[in-house]
Amino acid sequence: IDVTDIPELPDDVFIAPLEKPKDLGDDWLEPQQRVYTAEEHHIWDDLFAQQMEILPGRACSAFMAGLERLDLGRGGVPDFGAMSEELKSITGWEVVPVPMLIPDHVFFWHLANRRFPAGNFIRTRETFHYIQEPDVFHDVFGHVPLLTDPVFADYMAAYGRAGWKALKHNRLKALSALYWYTVEFGLILEEDGMRSYGAGILSGPTEAVFAVEAESPNRIHLDVDRVVRTDYTISDLQPTYFVIESFAELFHMTVERDFNDLYGRLGAGFTYANQAVLDVDRVYHIGTQEYAQRGGRG
Ligand code: PHE
Ligand code: FE
Repeated sequence: IDVTDIPELPDDVFIAPLEKPKDLGDDWLEPQQRVYTAEEHHIWDDLFAQQMEILPGRACSAFMAGLERLDLGRGGVPDFGAMSEELKSITGWEVVPVPMLIPDHVFFWHLANRRFPAGNFIRTRETFHYIQEPDVFHDVFGHVPLLTDPVFADYMAAYGRAGWKALKHNRLKALSALYWYTVEFGLILEEDGMRSYGAGILSGPTEAVFAVEAESPNRIHLDVDRVVRTDYTISDLQPTYFVIESFAELFHMTVERDFNDLYGRLGAGFTYANQAVLDVDRVYHIGTQEYAQRGGRG
């Protein structure tokens, strides 16, 4: 199959815009960071300790270095002000609090301006192992360490601009698949082996092991034309992960490429199921898919 030879598909269905809470400005930012209770700080510490048991040897080296550099394990939910000062001096990024998921164009505008919007709440003991909404642990522990890497930091800011452009071309769904398979669920092949860099993997215990070690999922080299046409799983472990060999390689394939032709050729829907392995794929591991076949999370 030639992955670029795809017929036009019907346009996206209309999605109603999110309603903005009255107390927020057009930037959708909270006026200040939540004052967390002692128990909530404790939840952060326990989540942090749990991940530190699992991530060495499974998270990429830039992530581990960023965690340490920002000292995110100093105790409790990090103070956004102090963390942003530090991060600004490294790559120019800051972290700002938002109440919930914000509209796409506002999210992109913040990213393009090197502001990372992070949830202003933390999960409870009941949802300790898995929550679907991004809380401060996912957003800060999962995403912020890599913002200390200069190439990845530039990729994220460029993604913000790219989001605006994708909205204009009505091809956001395609660009979102790229975000999903890189920023949230990306793998990177390092000298010492397969590692995760995606925040969705690194902010929880189960997928942090599954993504790099399980027989079940496919691991396929990331090809942009392929990934933007691939459906993704939102609320369960991924059937397929896409692998890069360096952040420089990712940058080259995305930021340094003009997506206009791609958007012109693309339909609004996805072409490939999230379990598919194509004959053009450069495969690292063909998954057994036994996890999905057992019914996944159910
Ligand atoms: N350079 C791309 C474009 O022309 C988009 C892109 C940039 C995608 C950064 C991902 C990350 O639209
Ligand atoms: Fe995320």
